Amino acid sequence: MYATIARLCNDVSGVTLMFHLDLAPADPILGLTETFKADLHPDKINLGVGVYQDANGRTPVLAAVKQAETRLLETETSKSYLPIPGVPEIASYTQELLFGEHHTIIEQGRAKTAQTPGGTGALRVAADFLKRAKPNATLWLSDPSWTNHHTIFEAAGFSVQSYRYYDKISQRLDLAGLVADLERAARGDIVILHGCCHNPSGIDLDKGAWETIASQAKAKELVCLVDFAYQGFGDGLEEDREGLHVLLDTGLAVLVASSFSKNFGLYNERIGAVTVVEETENDAINTFSHIQTAIRAMYSSPPAHGGNVVATILSDASLKELWIEELGEMRTRISTMRQAFVQQMAIRQQVVDFDFINHQKGMFSFSGLTQEQVLKLREDNHIYIVGSGRINVAGITPSNLEPLCDAVAKIL
Ligand code: LMR
Repeated sequence: MYATIARLCNDVSGVTLMFHLDLAPADPILGLTETFKADLHPDKINLGVGVYQDANGRTPVLAAVKQAETRLLETETSKSYLPIPGVPEIASYTQELLFGEHHTIIEQGRAKTAQTPGGTGALRVAADFLKRAKPNATLWLSDPSWTNHHTIFEAAGFSVQSYRYYDKISQRLDLAGLVADLERAARGDIVILHGCCHNPSGIDLDKGAWETIASQAKAKELVCLVDFAYQGFGDGLEEDREGLHVLLDTGLAVLVASSFSKNFGLYNERIGAVTVVEETENDAINTFSHIQTAIRAMYSSPPAHGGNVVATILSDASLKELWIEELGEMRTRISTMRQAFVQQMAIRQQVVDFDFINHQKGMFSFSGLTQEQVLKLREDNHIYIVGSGRINVAGITPSNLEPLCDAVAKIL
């Protein structure tokens, strides 16, 4: 809890209206990046924030993005405001990525999309809208979930509860616990589901688990908000939307918060999207009007550059092909490093069988390291891992793999 009681007072210089606040806690993920940057050790390793790094430890600008930006520099004619939902083409391109080209939801006009400042912006817009639409609903998050989920939904005024997800003993999904906890949800409560590449555990729901949740959500009239920040980092663009499609095929109205930060490498351009799918086009139009009201009150309209880059790439067959290829390279590199880590750990020690990591998907892996071990790795080896033991597998490179495994084996 923030100890944030501000009080008005006179300070010694006679200036009035000073806030006396305690220091807010550093963000567990972004704060770690700052600590990493301040570390001057030449062999430091950053496995903290979820940002892709190539084999040389760099976060590249994708070639497809560079080419799109070159075109935009030539063709852009105005910096005037975008409409509230952003670059107009982003809506249809986002929907094609989420549902597939010519999907009936698109043809029937049942989905409406607004471009947002990143996936975080999409979640915050959804949270603000949901708080107005369902003021008494409780919001359910997986245990664990991305730390910022708590912050976003509490900031929007929600009472947040957790449903079981990760079984510490088996290091696998606790489906029975999940179902039992969601059974306690009230009719009309909101449940956040990770579309793929669960953050932080890397443990995804299989099709059967999605079906179980979908029928439970239908029976209890739960509102599903799918956080879809890593499409393309699990098994592929199409494969990763399997869970979302199970929800849609069950006939649920769904909200999706998606992001182009990771799959386009557009982290600092802040580009994502919020999409609502309703039963009829008319319902979608009505709901979307309230989403636009929420956006207007928060930031009016999104920044243009990231949206223009994504629209340029997805409107051009050869740029799109190049992007899909580059996305595939990122996904393959991460999964190669995942396997290499498991292999190297097995060579070094037999205390822990890290095979469970091979079953996790996407950028992250729950390593099972304790907070104490995480701190020791930071102090002794300049290796930066989030306190929960979450490793950004994309931060492992052929040159830091061995020193990393040596250090981890030593502290087990
Ligand atoms: C992460 O989980 O590391 C990323 O989504 C970056 C962030 O904003 O926390």
